Amino acid sequence: MGSTMRAVVLCGGEGTRLRPFTHTQAKHLLPVAGKPVVEHALAAVRATGIRDVGIVVSPSVEGQFRERLGDGSRLGLSVTYIVQPEPKGLAHAVLCAQSYVGNGPFLVYLGDNLLQGGITGVVNLFRSQSPAAVVTLRRVEDPRRFGVAVLEDGRLVRLVEKPPNPPSDLAIVGAYAFTPLVFQAAREVKPSFRGELELTDCLQWLIDHGHPVLPYEADGWWQDVGRPADLLVANRLLLSQIESRVEGEVDRGSTVDGPVVVERGARVVASRVVGPAVIGEEAVIERSTVGPHAAVGPRAVVREATVADTILMDGSRVEQGARIVGAVLGRGARVHLPMGKPSSAFLGDESTLEVKEEG
Ligand code: G1P
Repeated sequence: MGSTMRAVVLCGGEGTRLRPFTHTQAKHLLPVAGKPVVEHALAAVRATGIRDVGIVVSPSVEGQFRERLGDGSRLGLSVTYIVQPEPKGLAHAVLCAQSYVGNGPFLVYLGDNLLQGGITGVVNLFRSQSPAAVVTLRRVEDPRRFGVAVLEDGRLVRLVEKPPNPPSDLAIVGAYAFTPLVFQAAREVKPSFRGELELTDCLQWLIDHGHPVLPYEADGWWQDVGRPADLLVANRLLLSQIESRVEGEVDRGSTVDGPVVVERGARVVASRVVGPAVIGEEAVIERSTVGPHAAVGPRAVVREATVADTILMDGSRVEQGARIVGAVLGRGARVHLPMGKPSSAFLGDESTLEVKEEG
């Protein structure tokens, strides 16, 4: 039975807090440490041994997902797309996946949640104990923006979504395992204060109806990507795990220190790259300093500039002495700044930030 477990990766929602980037790109397809957020999540699914993944998407971004991930074979997965017609909550998204998962148990993973230790522990606990559900928990400083769990003698007794006065510091992490009983729960629970069907309420429903729900406590870092600044935090965390790999060109006038990936077709000329850093396919780094914590996207250009703690998306450009620290540039965005103090910016696709020389 275990080997046939499927995964449902939830990538719905509008991503409004990630504007301007989500005006033009799906939130889960924004790049972090050299690949879309969702590909990091999918790698974690693959590490559990699960191969069949249903990705729940909203209708407006389905095409973008298909274009980027295709049938999943590039990632060693078999991907099926499931459209959630309206953003009515995580439990509603899971209901949309009912015919995909059928009568078997399944993993649910929020495609914007990144965990240092992955999610294999969730699947292993579920397989060894066969409860009705497993929910991942982690202690956080401010649990108010999460679901929160209360344990008594190690047993889960209560779960509440986004409580203004949190009853504990145990936040609900977006990795769950369920039996199909959750579909019944999702049909019975009422919309929450935010008008959505919550998985948190489904878990409470299972407990209230006498079905065992087990907590799995994650260790290591946990980062969800909700706001632009989160992209940079996730970028730093994920870059800190990379291993060096140089497939592009690094000329003799350049130095590379620390863990650095230089993808195929990329060119590093008369520059210094300080890891951890990723230089994407066909990117050009010329007479510049890049890193640490820089993710330079495919076809991006850094020329006579300094870039650190930054995400440069596909085809963006930083030129003319600019010093960029703590920035995210959308696809095709350009920064032309004369030498000066370090600048930070969140620039959407095709934006330009330029300082004109006087005279
Ligand atoms: C959702 C869940 C919440 C959980 C969080 C983890 O919140 O409802 O219980 O703590 O994911 O990222 P949302 O991101 O929909 O606000």
